[in-house]
Amino acid sequence: MLMTVPDIKTALPGPKAKALIDRDNAFVSPSYTRGYPLVIERGTGATVEDVDGNVFLDCAAGIAVNSTGHAHPEVVQAVTEQAGKFLHMSGTDFYYEPQVRLAEELAAIVPINGGVRSFFGNSGTEAVEACIKLSRYATGRENIIAFLGGFHGRTMGSLSLTASKAIQRRGFGPLMPGVYHAPYADCYRCPIGLRPETCAAECLDFIDHQLFVHLVTPDEVAAIVVEPIQGEGGYIVAPDQFLQKLHELTKPHGILLVADEVQSGMGRSGRMFAIEFSGVEPDMVAIAKGIASGLPLGVASARAGLMAWPPGAHASTFGGNPVSCAAALATIRLLRTQLMANAADVGAHMLAGLKQLADKHPLIGDVRGRGLMIGVELVRDRETKERATEERNAVVNAAFRRGLLVLGAGKNAVRFSPPLVLTRDEADIAVRIFDEALSEVEGAIR
Ligand SMILES: Cc1ncc(COP(=O)(O)O)c(C=O)c1O
Repeated sequence: MLMTVPDIKTALPGPKAKALIDRDNAFVSPSYTRGYPLVIERGTGATVEDVDGNVFLDCAAGIAVNSTGHAHPEVVQAVTEQAGKFLHMSGTDFYYEPQVRLAEELAAIVPINGGVRSFFGNSGTEAVEACIKLSRYATGRENIIAFLGGFHGRTMGSLSLTASKAIQRRGFGPLMPGVYHAPYADCYRCPIGLRPETCAAECLDFIDHQLFVHLVTPDEVAAIVVEPIQGEGGYIVAPDQFLQKLHELTKPHGILLVADEVQSGMGRSGRMFAIEFSGVEPDMVAIAKGIASGLPLGVASARAGLMAWPPGAHASTFGGNPVSCAAALATIRLLRTQLMANAADVGAHMLAGLKQLADKHPLIGDVRGRGLMIGVELVRDRETKERATEERNAVVNAAFRRGLLVLGAGKNAVRFSPPLVLTRDEADIAVRIFDEALSEVEGAIR
């Protein structure tokens, strides 16, 4: 498929897209958040064609999932070969090689020393549920600490940890008891008003000096669950010392440290897992999204000694589906040989390009990220940092109309989470279109 990127031929949505959206509106759950009317027909690499023949540059990757790009030939081949052999045999009751081989691969790449065992589900939320259950089971304690702004999924256990947008929790209570939330290290908006230059992760004192004093003793806490880079919360990069101090806080109390790498993991940050930047070794890692290039797979990987629950304690019929495992094995091979390095290289290039835009666009308050996980936070005023939510939505839409797919994150950030095959030239196109979209929205404000 040879395509010029982007290439917008119709008003958006085009006629075929509009017809499909009308059908969707009649029959599909209205709970999904569709920011703009994209109806995909096919994709290749970082390029997406819609049903009306419009061609877009994809910096959303199905919410950071298509790590190897759309329809990578090696992934498609692995999927096709496995699909021709068998589609399902339930790894909870029987054995098959792709699941075992994937567990072996994960033991090699998950940043936990010594033995690692993996539990297989189908999604990020199931990976987090498994971490919650295993933390409780392994420690015999029931409480979990998570962070404000964090997103961990939408099933009842993980939803109880999620503290991203109130609408995600509203109307679903009561949620799981025993969950406490602490402030996250959002250094652009320090929750305790300090400056990043002199920061010693004092925001974590809240856990030690408040939570442990007033609400729950540390020996009752099973785990602290943290995103090394908050994803849905706004692509907020926690400084290394935050994760290091968090680790130190957990150790003396036997509290498990769970890294939720559902969004930040699998090479996106330029390292296999974002927590590696801090040198901190977690006890468990939740993995999903990018692991299988788009096929459903969620994994909870843990220190082998911790994953000592008996047969029947936890399982999932579809978890570790052989086709998903085959896709994951091909994905890991590509990440290791090429794409993780590409994410680091093109990500640094793109970050620099986006930072330069801040010189001419007053809407830009902050540009941050690691690898190809980049957030641009928009504000109405750089001094007050008033959140520019409507402007952010307008910029995302203006980018779409110009042929660039990006998504919002948090209340007022734009996230760039492209496939990790993105080239420098494509990154430059993305920055140029984003520049134009910002100009359009800023022009409309004036
Ligand atoms: C950090 C994190 N954890 C968990 C989840 C939940 O994943 P899923 O939507 O696959 O259940 C997400 C999804 O965005 C996520 O970003």
